[in-house]
Amino acid sequence: MNDALKVSCTKSPEIAGEITPPGDKSITIRALILGALAEGNTVIKNPLNSLDTRSALLAVQLLGAGIYEREHDWTVIGEGLRPPPGELDLGNSGTALRLLLGALAAYPGVEATLTGDESLRSRPLERVVDPLREMGSDAVCLEEEGRAPVRVRGKRLSGISYELPIPSAQVKSALLLAGLGADGAVEIIERTASRDHTERMLPEFGVAPKIVAGNGRRALIVPVGMKPKAAEVTVPGDISAAFSWIALGWLLPGEGVTVRNVGLNPTRLGALRVLESAGARTVVQQEGSYGSEPYGVINVFPSRLKGLRVDADEVPSLIDEIPLLALVATQADGESVIQGASELKVKESDRLRTTAETLAAFGAQVEIADGGLKTSGPQQLHPATVNCAGDHRIALLALACAVLAGGESEITGFSCADTSYPGATVDAKALLQGVELI
Ligand code: S3P
Repeated sequence: MNDALKVSCTKSPEIAGEITPPGDKSITIRALILGALAEGNTVIKNPLNSLDTRSALLAVQLLGAGIYEREHDWTVIGEGLRPPPGELDLGNSGTALRLLLGALAAYPGVEATLTGDESLRSRPLERVVDPLREMGSDAVCLEEEGRAPVRVRGKRLSGISYELPIPSAQVKSALLLAGLGADGAVEIIERTASRDHTERMLPEFGVAPKIVAGNGRRALIVPVGMKPKAAEVTVPGDISAAFSWIALGWLLPGEGVTVRNVGLNPTRLGALRVLESAGARTVVQQEGSYGSEPYGVINVFPSRLKGLRVDADEVPSLIDEIPLLALVATQADGESVIQGASELKVKESDRLRTTAETLAAFGAQVEIADGGLKTSGPQQLHPATVNCAGDHRIALLALACAVLAGGESEITGFSCADTSYPGATVDAKALLQGVELI
């Protein structure tokens, strides 16, 4: 397979037009898992159809859920889970692995082994396994402690009051799902807000956690004995996929970009907030809500930016945007600092390193410092040949760098973008002028 993308700029690139990004990855995976746990037919409208969501879909199918796929919606037919015939391979998807592990640990009668690709097998799992064991799970890591493959025999777990040691929506969601099958109340305490799609979606399935907020903390309490009921979920567009075009909309000349039907959940909008303080011209308009997920339109205009600053407590709300934020920082006037982002070291690649290396290949110097990134700008980029380290967010960073650099660049391993954004080059062709993608 020729897996390289050639980016050839025939003139100085410009950006103009509208896109509707694909469905949100986090929301699609949550809807698949809750749909499989619920009795009845769950309809997921506008699901993301990508490598990660297909890994989740196949896993729930192997666990006994029926799936009926149409172009713009999937129906999950929940009839109770059963033991899968073999291992559940979650590919590259940390969200699918961690959330399913939580759900299965508390599902009596189902034993399953969950694994993934080389990247996923190297990523930390003790953050989910440890609290599940505190709840009474016998989850066993089969090769290395704290890593997949992990075998779990579902059983009724005890309740727990657990303060999240890291602000991770995956850990929070795994424990919320485990709470559905616990004998006692599960209380999860978070001090730094992370994306809240699971707690917004649970009430749609009739299993609303109680939320108590105050004194710089939020407690989510899953009451005992609640059974999810089938629901209809409409998935808004993925702001993280759209962020490639939002970033280029600020940085490139042209008319800017309009992003339609995009999710506007505030726990995902940190990058827009940070850029607003750095002088970015952006208009965000909410049009409505799908369930309790707001969506709307974002208009982005070319902007003169100054250095940006990201503090640790903002990181969860922009964690997946940091590679592109670092690129934006290299083009802004003055110093930029992103702090408290060491979680990036355990993403699909060590993203602090792969972000700095990708930018360096295009001629921009970014320093890795104190679990974050530092740079100053503006810096001139030059064309390059780079590899994406198998990381979809790095593939999209490399594409944006290649466009800003002008000239001819080559990105090898670009197909990993299909993990979250299979239509990335189609949208790039629609929005960019003066750029050929081969
Ligand atoms: C996700 C949460 C984030 C994010 C990932 C998706 C989710 O991970 O980086 O892409 O769907 O809950 P952490 O919660 O582990 O930071």
